[in-house]
Amino acid sequence: MAKRTIAALDARGKRVLVRVDFNVPIETPPDMPAVVADDSRIRAALPTIAALRENGAIVVLCSHLGRPKGADRKLSLALVAKRAAELLGVPVPLAHDCVGPETARRVRELEPGEVLMLENVRFHPGEEQNDPAFAALLADGFDAYVNDAFGAAHRAHASTEGVAHLLPAYAGLLLDKEVRVLTALLESPARPFVAVIGGAKVSTKIDVLKSLVAKADVLAIGGGMANTFLAATGMDIKASLGEPDREADARAILAAATARGAEVLLPVDMRWSGDRILDIGEETERQFAAHIAAAGTVFWNGPMGLFEQPDYAHGTEAIARAMAGSSAVTVVGGGESVQALVQLGLADRMTHVSTGGGAALELIEGKKLPGVEAIPNA
Ligand code: 3PG
Repeated sequence: MAKRTIAALDARGKRVLVRVDFNVPIETPPDMPAVVADDSRIRAALPTIAALRENGAIVVLCSHLGRPKGADRKLSLALVAKRAAELLGVPVPLAHDCVGPETARRVRELEPGEVLMLENVRFHPGEEQNDPAFAALLADGFDAYVNDAFGAAHRAHASTEGVAHLLPAYAGLLLDKEVRVLTALLESPARPFVAVIGGAKVSTKIDVLKSLVAKADVLAIGGGMANTFLAATGMDIKASLGEPDREADARAILAAATARGAEVLLPVDMRWSGDRILDIGEETERQFAAHIAAAGTVFWNGPMGLFEQPDYAHGTEAIARAMAGSSAVTVVGGGESVQALVQLGLADRMTHVSTGGGAALELIEGKKLPGVEAIPNA
């Protein structure tokens, strides 16, 4: 069911609390000041911020950064506010707390079109506890709430869920697009639908695999998790990463695919280091790429090997390049595959690159996301 979006909000003169997911990597290069290492999540929220400003709203941005235990200046959003200001081309001052009388005064003094960023909402324990009293403090002084934090929509926290029950709530453009694209992938994919799943372990992706084996025409499995599938089919994976206690799950996925006539592609050759498999091999790359080229839809999550090491990044790179060259609808979800795409400069060649890691996977698993559910239907 589609959610009510900001298209239904008469924002003129309204004070709007906008939850964004600006949980971005901050890096400190040697002898240099710290910087935002990847600003994709900030860029992804710009259309919502721009639309609200154009419609005369007063925009107050709220986000978490990292997983602080109490106030921790190392996890301040100061650098993030600076980067947002550069990208928006307007000042984005930072309020030193997300609640309290000083912040309330600053919010009251803002004029239509102005933007303020609140300090890391996780500095308060009430955020992750979804404490109603803390949600009420956050909502205080606002006329409307917009959730554009798709990446945090799987968290039932005060700023992602609680506050949506206290103010008129709307989906931002990013959150709306993420939900539409990922839902369409499951409900009405252009076929053949090829899902490429990698990453280290079957155990962390078992629900995603179960969901996709019921929907996809082809499930291509790489990364460390492929070892467990190979072991389940009788191959000696030697000292490779594997999960013997998950071999029964792997066999169940293979049986489910056979039962509905879907194809599972496992690696047919691998790159080894000693007695450990660290990447898929060239013939496997060719087979996966051929299916991607012939697909109507491709969903990819998880690297094909130990891609942090250039010798074992070939498989992951081959998937990224095959997707970039395919005319299929291409959707990428999850942190590491997105990181690989950004490193290769191929992110803008995809139909959609999700800003959510955990949130995208939970949606693919068929779970309801609390941050989405709390917004009224359109
Ligand atoms: C993410 O980076 O996946 C989101 O911002 C959620 O962060 P969390 O896992 O700390 O809740």
